[in-house]
Amino acid sequence: MKLMAFNGSPRYSRNTARLLESMTRGAGDKGAATELINLYQISYQGCISCFRCKKVGGTGYGRCSLRDGLTPVLHKALQAQVLILGTPIYFGKESSGMRAFMERLWFPYYTYNLSKPTLSPAKRRTALLYTMNQPQPNMELHGYDLLVEKAKTYMERFFQCPCQVFIAADTKQMDDYSQYEVNSFDPAAKDLRHRDLFPLELERAYEFGRGLL
Ligand SMILES: Cc1cc2nc3c(=O)[nH]c(=O)nc-3n(C[C@H](O)[C@H](O)[C@H](O)COP(=O)(O)O)c2cc1C
Repeated sequence: MKLMAFNGSPRYSRNTARLLESMTRGAGDKGAATELINLYQISYQGCISCFRCKKVGGTGYGRCSLRDGLTPVLHKALQAQVLILGTPIYFGKESSGMRAFMERLWFPYYTYNLSKPTLSPAKRRTALLYTMNQPQPNMELHGYDLLVEKAKTYMERFFQCPCQVFIAADTKQMDDYSQYEVNSFDPAAKDLRHRDLFPLELERAYEFGRGLL
């Protein structure tokens, strides 16, 4: 079984990436072939609305015809049975890199045909990881719960399997908060939380990855 994870953070060794690494390690230890792709290392665009993926009888039906750095990655994703999309929250949404990736991954499978919810050639197990500076109880206040629910609904529609969600809130963004102006939260509490709770979240992510198989 092949699992692919996509990191929608421009940082390759921080919260999102580390949690994805734990998930892929968990899945790998259970026998999956795993691959973690850093989306910000690839040059690509979001959907350009060419509609080739929707043209009945066209050669591009059901797949993305845009050719750029994402083309081979989307092609590889077709071979994976499990897909994990991980992203930090940027201004209340997925990062722009993840957003563009979602457009390219999802739109070819989207239909305007009520009796055909997806053009995906196969079912896939999927998961979403969201990391954020806000503490988890604030998710509803900021509408992040709706954001996550929306993405989950699309994942389930296109890939025809329940989508698992992993939330990592109250993340530590900077190594040394004293070098920055911060008074909207307590940096010392953040440091402590990161020291004591983040390792447990990595363990939870490992088990989460195992559970996806
Ligand atoms: C441009 C930008 C916008 C952000 N906007 C939000 C936000 O709206 N809500 C939030 O909770 N965190 C926000 N954050 C914080 C990140 O989501 C959070 O620190 C995340 O865990 C970073 O992931 P990383 O360490 O993998 O890069 C923002 C960070 C950046 C750089």
